Formats: sequence, C-alpha cells, structure tokens
Amino acid sequence: MSLPNRNTQVQLRRQREGFPDVADFQIADAPVPEPVEGEFLVRTIYLSLDPYIRKAIRGDHPGHAALNPGDVIYGRTVCRVVKSRSHDVKQGDYLVAETGWQNYAALAPKKIVQRIDPALGPLSTSIGVLGMPGLTAWGSVAHVARPVMGDTYVVSAAAGPVGGTVGQLAKLAGARVIGIAGGKEKCDVALRTYGFEACIDYKKDGWEQALQAACPNGIDIYHDNVGAPLLMTLVKHFNLYAKVVMCGRPGDYHSGEFGGLSLGPFIGKRAQLRGLVVYDYEKDLPQYLRVASSLVREGKLRFKEDHADGLEIAPAHFLKLMRGENVGKAIVVLGPEKG
Ligand SMILES: NC(=O)c1ccc[n+]([C@@H]2O[C@H](COP(=O)([O-])OP(=O)(O)OC[C@H]3O[C@@H](n4cnc5c(N)ncnc54)[C@H](OP(=O)(O)O)[C@@H]3O)[C@@H](O)[C@H]2O)c1
Repeated sequence: MSLPNRNTQVQLRRQREGFPDVADFQIADAPVPEPVEGEFLVRTIYLSLDPYIRKAIRGDHPGHAALNPGDVIYGRTVCRVVKSRSHDVKQGDYLVAETGWQNYAALAPKKIVQRIDPALGPLSTSIGVLGMPGLTAWGSVAHVARPVMGDTYVVSAAAGPVGGTVGQLAKLAGARVIGIAGGKEKCDVALRTYGFEACIDYKKDGWEQALQAACPNGIDIYHDNVGAPLLMTLVKHFNLYAKVVMCGRPGDYHSGEFGGLSLGPFIGKRAQLRGLVVYDYEKDLPQYLRVASSLVREGKLRFKEDHADGLEIAPAHFLKLMRGENVGKAIVVLGPEKG
C-alpha cells in the first residue's frame, strides 16, 4: 500500500476550563512524518476516547503536560506499523500506542502501550475489554475488592468498558452484581449483554427504592466510576465494613475538584475506601490477557462498543462521552484494519 503524503490531525484550538466544546478543537492538515533512526511510522485504525483525556488536555493527569493551541490532542490508538527504522517493531505489527488524534504518527518505542496479538480477539478490544479499561477492572476485582461468594457488588457507569468488565468479573467470582447506569438503553446492556442481576437507572424517579429492593441484604462492595453525589447516596445502603474501589469521577475532570464528598457516613459504616490506578497492574497485563481473551472467546466476558467514523467526528464523539451519552466503549474508526 503506497503511503499518502498528507496527514489529518485534530489539534487543540483553545485551552479553557469547564465543559469542553467542539470549538475547542480544530482539524488540521500536516505532512505525514518521516521516522528518524530508531523510530517507526504507524497508520492509526481505532482511536480510544477515554474520560481521562479531559484531564490530560488540562495537564491534570500523570505524564501529560497541558496542551497549547496547535498541539495534537492526546490519545491512544490501535495502529499498524507501516514503516520501521526501529529494531523493536516490524512493518505490519499491530500496536496500541500514544499517537494522539491523527491518521499517521512517527513514534519512538517508548510510545508503545501494548503489543497486540490479533489472535486474542477483535483488534478494537485492545483499547477496551482486552486493554486498559479491562485491566482496570481486573485490578479492581482481583486485587482490590476480592469478592467472596454471595457478596452484593454494585458498579456504576455499568454499561461502560470498565463498569461492564468489573461486573462480569465479579459475577464470575460468585458475587451478585447490581449495575447503576444512566438510562434504559444502558441498563439493557448491563442486563442483557453483561448478565447483571439488576440494573438501576439513576435518572428515573424512585431509583433509590429500586436499589434498596435490588440489594435487600445491603451493599458489600461498590466499584465507583462516577464519584459524588452517587457515592453519598449509596453509602446509606452499605453494610458495615463495605469496600469502595474509587476509580473515577468524570463529572469533576473539567475542574480538577472532587466535589460533594463528606467522609462522616463512611466512618459510621467502617467502610474501606481504596483508590485504584491502573498503572499499578501493568505487569499483570499478559496474565489478564490470557484469562480475559479465553473468557471473551467463550462468550463469558462480553463487550459493547460505541463507534463513530472518521477523525473529523472525534471532537463530537468525545463530547458525547463527556456528557455521559456513550453506550459502551467510545471509539472512533480512523481506517481499515488491513493494509
Ligand atoms: N483509576 C484508573 O486507573 C482508571 C482507569 C480507567 C478508567 N477510569 C475511570 O473509570 C470510569 C469509567 O471509565 P470508562 O472508560 O469505562 O468510561 P465510560 O463508562 O465509557 O464513560 C463514563 C460514564 O460515566 C458516567 N458518568 C456519570 N457522571 C458523568 C459525568 N458527569 N460526565 C460524564 N460521564 C458521567 C456515564 O455513564 P452513566 O450514564 O451510566 O452514569 C458515562 O457513560 C471513569 O471515571 C474513568 O475515568 C479510571
């Protein structure tokens, strides 16, 4: 396949606080970069949209300096090596790499996040259930929460890649899993695709009573993907010594503040609150992929993706994620898998 000489990028147009807007981004044309000795050129295939990107753009995420106008937006992609001047990769290899939002990138090997074995599952799952979100779920269930048979295990953002995988792994460990999600469509995914015991739509009137009915013996473990105020409501339903895995708080990523949390009720419940950062489990990735890819093949670990086509749509698809309207892993399809 002959390479084009032009590259399309999504760049930051303006840096500002608060909820992002499509006008904060700009589409730009640039030359396809030439890899120098030790680098390689990739063509991007699937762009991963993740809540942390909002923080990274602001420089409020480890390893990411605040972007300036004209900088390419941070992001990981499933990509394919189209030219290599590095001993670490060869032409045709599939990778997950820190390419940013663009069609081509010249990279040093340190930008590789994950080497993909295409035999393990569909390529797009390397940024979902067989990638960072899946590993986050594995860290939460296998290392932090460690459920025992019969535990009542509640997970928020239950239709997303982290929440959906947390619930399914917890279920496989013998827990009774209750999802919490915004809207009927997401609850249907949690129930029908992931097989949770119940899913509570917190946007519906009477949801707290529905939660109480779904958890008649109280909550033993809560995987928190959304932060306060949901956490402050759920603590009322915790059993003594309940465990909370604090994973994310997307509503606060625009400001950097952790609003609305008051610790008193957690003391009363003798609750254990533990923060989780996926980087702690990177060394577990090969083990996780071995286990999870077999589960995916056997249909015991399922996933849902929310695709949009073309780089130009990436800002709008990102805003959909920021509004919490994505149903499944948010992905932008940038190019074909082959070639
Ligand atoms: N700590 C770590 O190492 C780590 C690693 C990966 C991900 N995370 C965190 O894990 C959480 C889930 O990640 P994911 O990739 O699976 O995301 P996701 O579930 O695909 O998307 C985020 C979901 O959060 C919910 N949400 C609630 N309040 C929101 C708000 N104010 N703004 C936007 N969304 C809101 C929405 O679902 P509902 O409508 O169902 O509420 C939304 O769909 C995020 O908080 C993410 O930052 C943490």
